Amino acid sequence: MTRLLPARVIEKKRRGGELTREEVEGVFGGFLAGNVPDYQMAALLMAVHFRGMGAAELDALLELMIGSGAVLDLSHLPGPRVDKHSTGGVGDKTSLVLAPLAAELGLFVPMISGRGLGHTAGTLDKLEAIPGFRTHLTLAEFRSVLEEVGVAMMGQTEEIAPLDRRLYALRDATATVPSIPLIAASILSKKLAEGLQGLVLDVKAGSGAFLPAVEDSRDLARTMTALGNARGVRTVALLTGMEAPLGRAVGNGLETREAMECLAGRGPEDLSGLSCALTGEMLFVGGLVADPGEGGRLAREALAEGRAIPRMARLVERQGGDPRVVTNPGLIPLAPERGVVTAEVAGFVREILPVSLGYGVVELGGGRWRMEDDLDPRVGFVLAVRTGDRLEPGDPLGEVHAADVKGLEKGRRILRGAVVLGPEPPAPRLPLVRERIPPLA
Ligand code: URA
Repeated sequence: MTRLLPARVIEKKRRGGELTREEVEGVFGGFLAGNVPDYQMAALLMAVHFRGMGAAELDALLELMIGSGAVLDLSHLPGPRVDKHSTGGVGDKTSLVLAPLAAELGLFVPMISGRGLGHTAGTLDKLEAIPGFRTHLTLAEFRSVLEEVGVAMMGQTEEIAPLDRRLYALRDATATVPSIPLIAASILSKKLAEGLQGLVLDVKAGSGAFLPAVEDSRDLARTMTALGNARGVRTVALLTGMEAPLGRAVGNGLETREAMECLAGRGPEDLSGLSCALTGEMLFVGGLVADPGEGGRLAREALAEGRAIPRMARLVERQGGDPRVVTNPGLIPLAPERGVVTAEVAGFVREILPVSLGYGVVELGGGRWRMEDDLDPRVGFVLAVRTGDRLEPGDPLGEVHAADVKGLEKGRRILRGAVVLGPEPPAPRLPLVRERIPPLA
């Protein structure tokens, strides 16, 4: 075999060529083994960023990324293994609702999740707002919780997709994160290491999304569904709106409280509706229902009856947390300083800016600028209004939760800036689910 020169491969991609499987394996595999230096990989990533990747080379990269670490063998479980992934938004706590709900309805949900960075939050940070909850599990512990409860939730370990971790660090430092093929391979490398039979993707579009333009979200959704299905995992994507926060709570502990209320059938309509739509899709790709509409109906019934509560309590207990929070979310600690912000003028709520509130949580100490930052799970915002509401002066916009008086004042300014009022009503709200990309698109 001729020796593969990384510079030749970089040049080929720079010119827009499609790499062979051997070239992908040679350069990306060489990078993982320490034989291809960071500067060459950075150049290749930048070339991919501008030139994209074809289906075959992307599949080769994905295979390499999955195979760089452990792949869970969960074939002994007596039911379909299905997970959900969201590309991230503000106020999105659906994982905390749908994971126990889907398990209650017969699926096994091995959920490996991420942390928040920048304006979007992560499931692990929300779970850790529950006193005692452990998201650092060994794979053996994860497997045992999953076997017993039907759902387990943890963070990416060193053993899962190490090539993704190394590439992501380099992408982060070289402004090559927003590349659709690289995002698709990165997300799927971690999800497909879970040994799934089905995967549901919630790809956000709108100002609060990681990729705001709907064309980009659609492209990402199609790329991921094609890759997942080609690898034998029934993969479906919903394109959902993220031009306003999902639900009313933004901030880790506050969101966890809201998720628990939702499990008791008392969630806001948008959060409950999206959680059930996604659960319906999970039941569908898991083969438990003939169509996702039927799955959604089963999910709505189970949610309204609070049937997933005992399962969520078992999950919390098995992962070291206080299970009483599930029926008594008031046990999740609140921030010491709280204050209501009111409207100064009359008008309609034209917009609630998700990015302002997402970064607002970071400003209050509840999020991260860098991955190693610590966070305060108690801080955030609880909205009292929805887009389209008509307000009089003095009507509440929402509540700020802060660690101290200075934070409270900052939070008031942030909340006031995030709720945009105007004399005219806004255009009617679009349905949250905009498009569906079916498993065999
Ligand atoms: N999330 C991931 O896991 N990877 C990316 O590249 C982007 C978002």
